[in-house]
Amino acid sequence: MFGRPARFVARAPGRVNLIGEHTDYNDGFVLPMAIDREVTLVGAPREDRVVRVHSLDFDETLTFGLDFIPREAAGRWGNYVRGVAAVLRDAAFALTGFDAVLKGDVPMGSGLSSSAAIELATLMAFKAAGEAAGRPLDARLDGELAARLAQRAEQRYTGVQCGIMDQFIATLGVEGHALKIDCLDLTHEAVPMPAGARIVVIDTGASRALAASAYNTRRAECEAGAALFRAQTLRDVRYADFVARREGAEGPVMLRVGHVLLENQRVLDAVEALKRGDLEELGLLMSHSHQSLRDLYEVSSDALDAAVDIAEGVEGVYGARMTGAGFGGCAIALTREDAVDALREAIEAQYPQRTGLTPKVFVCRANAGASYRLLDAAAG
Ligand code: GLA
Repeated sequence: MFGRPARFVARAPGRVNLIGEHTDYNDGFVLPMAIDREVTLVGAPREDRVVRVHSLDFDETLTFGLDFIPREAAGRWGNYVRGVAAVLRDAAFALTGFDAVLKGDVPMGSGLSSSAAIELATLMAFKAAGEAAGRPLDARLDGELAARLAQRAEQRYTGVQCGIMDQFIATLGVEGHALKIDCLDLTHEAVPMPAGARIVVIDTGASRALAASAYNTRRAECEAGAALFRAQTLRDVRYADFVARREGAEGPVMLRVGHVLLENQRVLDAVEALKRGDLEELGLLMSHSHQSLRDLYEVSSDALDAAVDIAEGVEGVYGARMTGAGFGGCAIALTREDAVDALREAIEAQYPQRTGLTPKVFVCRANAGASYRLLDAAAG
């Protein structure tokens, strides 16, 4: 593509969230897992301050200089690359330009955080390019800071006031494990995924229209909810105080608060269930989470509800829920290993009839977070 050998490979995974939805920006708990669907950048450093990235999926080349990085139109993949470059530059990291090709198999716009995968793969490419050119980036750009900067890039270049979950798991995911994250202080714990259980992704095939504006509205409602309780964030609101105040209080804010408080507890319970290998309990918690996101947080959709409903009717499925921000995108199901085929058949038979949409069903495995490696100059 660029007429010279590649010097590095940088990669970052997508994710599913097992439970803990819309809790991250409320300083709550989440339990995501990085998946074996990734974005990969293969490239080489440049001697000037230019970045060129060619997307094989879109057959498009993005070119910009590190000193002036304007946004593109909303929704374009280039914004994630540009956003990361701008945020790293503004945080005073001395960046090296590079040429790279980009390819991914994280479904886009499906709630599996393809955007965080591009962001972290780009960040790793900057680390790799610096090292390959003999100008390594400051070692302080470790996992946690990398996740925070990528989150800032997403917020600035897409306008979505996202939490930290997606970028954190894309950076710090552990192979074979889910990651419990306390979003208050970013302490985290890797919890092994039990053998014999499978996480099946059901892509509803429905686009996530209005997701960005509805997401920001939910976030504002949670802030209003915290203010009602004179708390900094919903993490500081006690359930008993909520119950006392709920009587007679109508409207969306109280519904959102109710979801967040109970969802936090469900994450803690889910972690314990996972540690015990109690998949029945974990599945039940996932199903309760879905109901709460549907009825209290109001971020599900008819397509997601249909996918979850069909999945829950299959023998050997422990539970199912939407994953990610919602408003379309993907659902996940926790299943016994030997129930995967029956689940796939049920979805393929019933879902198109109920929704008029074509689903995609695939099993995912817990993957490691973002990384890079240098290639031998001669090997290319
Ligand atoms: C999106 C955001 C995350 C999180 C989820 C909902 O994926 O990027 O920060 O808020 O929605 O749990």
